[in-house]
Amino acid sequence: MTFSLSTPIAEALKTLQRSDLFIADAFIAGNWVSSKKKFPVYEPSSGDVLGTVADVTREDFVTAITSADKGYRSYSTSTTAHERSALLRKWFDLIILHKEDIATILVLENGKTYAEAIGEVAYAASFVSWFSEEASRAYGDVIPSSMPNTTVLTLKQPVGVCGIITPWNFPAAMITRKIAPALAAGCSVVIKPPSETPYTAAALVKLAIEAGLPSDVIHLLPTKDREAATELCTSPIVKKISFTGSTKVGIHLSKLAMGTMKKISMELGGNAPFIVFDDADIDLAVQGAMVCKFRCSGQTCVCANRIFAHKSIARKFTAKLVAEVEKLKVGYGLDKSTTQGPLVNRAGVEKVKLHIEDALAKGAKLETGGAVPNNVNQAGFFIQPSVLSGVTKDMIVAKEETFGPLAPVFEFETEEEAITLANNTEFGLAGYFFSRDIGRCLRVASALECGLIGVNSGKISAAESPFGGVKQSGVGREGSRYGMAEYYVIKTVTIGNTNV
Ligand code: SIN
Repeated sequence: MTFSLSTPIAEALKTLQRSDLFIADAFIAGNWVSSKKKFPVYEPSSGDVLGTVADVTREDFVTAITSADKGYRSYSTSTTAHERSALLRKWFDLIILHKEDIATILVLENGKTYAEAIGEVAYAASFVSWFSEEASRAYGDVIPSSMPNTTVLTLKQPVGVCGIITPWNFPAAMITRKIAPALAAGCSVVIKPPSETPYTAAALVKLAIEAGLPSDVIHLLPTKDREAATELCTSPIVKKISFTGSTKVGIHLSKLAMGTMKKISMELGGNAPFIVFDDADIDLAVQGAMVCKFRCSGQTCVCANRIFAHKSIARKFTAKLVAEVEKLKVGYGLDKSTTQGPLVNRAGVEKVKLHIEDALAKGAKLETGGAVPNNVNQAGFFIQPSVLSGVTKDMIVAKEETFGPLAPVFEFETEEEAITLANNTEFGLAGYFFSRDIGRCLRVASALECGLIGVNSGKISAAESPFGGVKQSGVGREGSRYGMAEYYVIKTVTIGNTNV
């Protein structure tokens, strides 16, 4: 496939201090490899081709997995926890050193604003730093035995080769959140990056190798061939799968992984409720809604998807929310004045439009937005940040994750009703609410069926906080001290006859 770079893309790439971080190859068994078959990656604000990337095959996965198995056996036994910690610290330093380049690449393939991208790189690096510190804390137990003259010990050991499948909405952070604990524990990793955003992943892998990670311990396999990537779930050599993406795909991959009883971590879809009670600080609630609804243009699994405002304050809250939304400036992410980037692809835009049209047809009111802005490249994947009022539970927005910049406002009358409405979904990732009543805060935090709760805050994600869902939002926890446990197996050692 031949193509020429558009001027803005070529100009942006020229600003890279390390142009060698923009890599279109796979990294397999210690080598950067190209392939005859390639797939295009698009720059979302123009729809132009950013580049074409190696489209690897099932055989490439087999090669990578075999090499990763060898890598794991030597890495897990020849490095101490302290050496792995130092290695991760070096990787952290390199990510921070090259944060501007990584952020530029990230904007070009994902579309988010440069400020958000710089924030994401810092967020990504925070997992590397966190797990660099956790590497040295793999304490086991000494258990008082019920048998005489016996001591029982537990050892935490690395699970082995890990298959890592990451999403496009956080091209840097979702990789480090998964592989930093794996590498800290002594595992090796075979990564399938998202086909929308493979370049950021390649830059991170290159820096990990520069930090001194053995080259058979990390492998990067971009592909559009979903069937080829399922080798990660079916190969008996792979002992663990960590996936972030939709519930539908997560269930499919989990079924495949169970064929060889792999350990799994699944971080899946959400349908986050965001409740504003009548005793809430309305300005704080609006600020929280802006943070958690419009981050990454509404494309996060923890974005508020359904906003429930108490009937008595719904109009005031909605008016203030609309005023803030109308201040957002939609545009090209590398334009420093932009505060809201495009969506990652055309399908994302169509989904937002469908949710708006459905809600309007069923009686909702469009308070702002709803169209493609006219001051942007019309070939890009843009949609105005939008607010709907008068939303009811028969509308698509009540049931499905929009994954875009649409804030639908529902009304409720009692605390009990708000909780019932909030829990009326098969998903349970994040939930938020705003109230100044401490009793209510404790009651509602306990009643919401979610893995993550934000109380009087729209910001809940951090390296030290366990991240993960309940119900069909997934299994396992990422980040935090619990994130490390996903990459260990516990071995019990019973030492008997200690009197002999
Ligand atoms: C996600 O959307 O999957 C991750 C969001 C976060 O880490 O805050």
